[in-house]
Amino acid sequence: MKSILEVPEKYRFTQVLEQNTYLINGELKHWHGERTNIYSPIYQKNKEGKLGPTLLGSIPSLTEKEALESLDSAYNAYDKGRGEWPTMKVEERIACIENFSKMMLKTRDEVVNWLMWEIGKPYEESCNEFDRTIEYIDDTITTLREMDQKHSEIKNHSGILAQVRRAPLGVVLCLSPYNYPLNETFCLLIPALIMGNTTIFKPAKHGILLLSPLLEAFQKCFPKGVVNIIYGSGRTLATPIMQSGKIDVLALIGNSKSANILQEYHPKKNRLRLVLGLEAKNPGIVLPDCNLDLAVKECLNGSLAFNGQRCTALKILFVHEDIVEDFNKKFIKALEELKYGNPWEDNVKLTPLPEPNKPKYIKELIFDAQENGAHIINKKGGDTENSFVYPAILYPVNSKMKVYHEEQFGPVVPIISFKEISEPLTYVSESNYGQQVSLFSQNSETLAPLIDSLVNQVCRVNINSKCQRGPDVFPFVGRKDSAVSTLSVYDALRTFSIRTLVAFKSNPSNDKILDDLLESNQSNFVNTNYIL
Ligand code: G3H
Repeated sequence: MKSILEVPEKYRFTQVLEQNTYLINGELKHWHGERTNIYSPIYQKNKEGKLGPTLLGSIPSLTEKEALESLDSAYNAYDKGRGEWPTMKVEERIACIENFSKMMLKTRDEVVNWLMWEIGKPYEESCNEFDRTIEYIDDTITTLREMDQKHSEIKNHSGILAQVRRAPLGVVLCLSPYNYPLNETFCLLIPALIMGNTTIFKPAKHGILLLSPLLEAFQKCFPKGVVNIIYGSGRTLATPIMQSGKIDVLALIGNSKSANILQEYHPKKNRLRLVLGLEAKNPGIVLPDCNLDLAVKECLNGSLAFNGQRCTALKILFVHEDIVEDFNKKFIKALEELKYGNPWEDNVKLTPLPEPNKPKYIKELIFDAQENGAHIINKKGGDTENSFVYPAILYPVNSKMKVYHEEQFGPVVPIISFKEISEPLTYVSESNYGQQVSLFSQNSETLAPLIDSLVNQVCRVNINSKCQRGPDVFPFVGRKDSAVSTLSVYDALRTFSIRTLVAFKSNPSNDKILDDLLESNQSNFVNTNYIL
């Protein structure tokens, strides 16, 4: 890595951003209190010639007081279901989201640049995160229109006439992760909002300034109090919000420890709905009858895209003993072809890590694995320079090692050779996690029994390809400590709402009331109009 940066003009970072406003009750409030600096994982020399992480800006360190203000704001905007937003016609809510999406599109270059500087995500992947998010918003709108059309009919059963629709749940606290700070956030916020909930959103520790260009759009496109954005420590802000008992949905993508602690704070457990995306330790299982080149390509991409910082990454590889030697050789060769450098460089794949403690943690994992018999089998494996860690391929890994059990969320690839298929299957069933698995084989006879048992252990079995969330129309979910609730364009609309119905015992007087309601369009809920 170079200490004197050659940054193309387009991506140059020119000015430190002091983010001094936060959004509460429709107002971008100015903050004059303590602040937290935001640093990039990209190192360069400062004016004194000292090498260090680039200072990007700062954010307010809000306190419990502002946290509770944001809660009041969202709570009042929901107004026990009587607020403007939860009672609004679906098409009006869609119009607000469409407006937001238009304003958001204008911020693409800026947001993409922040993604590179704040979390070190390569340019192409940063663009992809932005575009995928816009697409997600568009698909959500289309899906809601279809859903609305389906729900606009009046059902008639056993003498009861009913209109069944989906209604919002209430106030949503939304906490998102640093690795997809835009996409994962919006995959929670957009469905929560469009279904009529009001929201409080606190970004993760990294990937925060990229929201600055969007704050105005949030302020302008939604009625006051519907979206509240606060900055600061999760413990300081989320604790009193949860303790209030006024949160109806905890939407958190992150780690299970924080999710458990936050749930515990809520005094009315049955009222709280959980939408959680948590840890995973997805295995790749490479069978002797696989297409080896394809398996290597997918396992490499699956384990090291964005330096392994994907919840869906392949975090352990089981390779059959008959092919493990060849697999390892090819894997190392393919890894050596991956370019490392800064995120804006052409074709770069391996980049600096945003979490300051990650290099140390990776070192510990490697050391522990070596102590227990593994070797780093690739040149430069584990070499660290400031925030950059060159991927370490560890072999042979066994159950005594931390890396066998822990979600590394970084550039370490543990490889285990197996003789009997029961070995990886036992790993999956004994694991605390249950998100996905990848199977590599060219033979349907080999695959069939594995598919049939693994679908009952994880929530997606990928055949001859890496694990992944997308396309976003497919359900994204996990078992055990990996997730609670299903997300996809369609499922998220269901996740952030509840079915509720208005029922009329059919008789002349009720039939007339229903006719009058439908004719006069007085109710936003009871009507048979649908959005085209
Ligand atoms: O980190 C979790 C992401 O949702 C994974 O998404 O599989 O498309 O990279 P991806």
